[in-house]
Amino acid sequence: MNTHTQTMPVERSAPGKVILCGEHSVVYKRPAIAVPLSDLRARATVVPAPKNQGLRLVAADLDEETLLQDAPPQHPLAAIARGVLGYLDPTPTFPLGGEGPDATLTVRSALPIAAGLGSGAAVSVASARALAAYLGHELDAEMASALSYEVEKIHHGTPSGIDNTVIAYEQPVYFVKGTPPQVFTIGATFHLLIADSGIPSSTREAVAGVRRRWEAAPETYNELFDRIAALVDAARTAVAGGDVRALGPLLDENHSLLCEMGVSLPELDRLVDAARAAGALGAKLTGGGAGGNIIALVPPERAGAVLAALEAASAARVWQTTLGEG
Ligand code: PMV
Repeated sequence: MNTHTQTMPVERSAPGKVILCGEHSVVYKRPAIAVPLSDLRARATVVPAPKNQGLRLVAADLDEETLLQDAPPQHPLAAIARGVLGYLDPTPTFPLGGEGPDATLTVRSALPIAAGLGSGAAVSVASARALAAYLGHELDAEMASALSYEVEKIHHGTPSGIDNTVIAYEQPVYFVKGTPPQVFTIGATFHLLIADSGIPSSTREAVAGVRRRWEAAPETYNELFDRIAALVDAARTAVAGGDVRALGPLLDENHSLLCEMGVSLPELDRLVDAARAAGALGAKLTGGGAGGNIIALVPPERAGAVLAALEAASAARVWQTTLGEG
């Protein structure tokens, strides 16, 4: 592939995401729906650096930096950079020297880490696109997603691939592991609140916990996964058809099934209950659980009251967003 190093700085960004329904069961090939959070983004810039510097990788929010050549294989920014460089020129006589251009890649993110909002995949997609663009190549969604999936494996062990997919496509997706993502259009404006419990969530541990319990009681868990699959299909119909009121009870039901799977926490249940009591149409944990965030679907006129109730219930942060606008 033809690549050339340009001397102009480039910037690319990628959104966060929320899983509306189907987390965990999606690891077992059941469907899930995720939507991008276009106003909460990770941004990556690549700027030229002095000759022979190599590629410097800077995680500005974490105050960490390294040269690509010194970074271990598990380093997430190094892994995405190596993936991009290998994709752009997989030959052994790599014209960029195998360690990238003389440049500095800097990442900043508005997304909380370990909170189920896709921070890792957003950083990977933004970085992959920025580095490729710096080298004269725009990555399409499929390739940005595939390269980021490799890094998701470092973060999560056995990811379904839903995070990198929804973030790279930046469109609502109905996702089944191992099949092409189905992007779809939202039929009305949905108002969501996202509330952070402030408790860090390890997706890797949450997924491993479900796997242990599934192995111990496969019939029970397969039935839970199938019930979630049925509600995900109903949710897709509601979201695509713009039926806001039909979606609420489906979110509630999904939260109950996630509780049965053992991935909720009293702190998450408290936020979910507070949202419902203040007028949310439905609420549930989102992402890996055992910490992280909940989402609440609200009628616009109740958004302020639900937000106040979430804050009173000790949410560390609350974001307000709309889906399907414009
Ligand atoms: O990265 P998170 O916390 O949004 O979790 C991803 C969702 C899971 O279904 C729990 C795991 C996966 O790989 O799909």
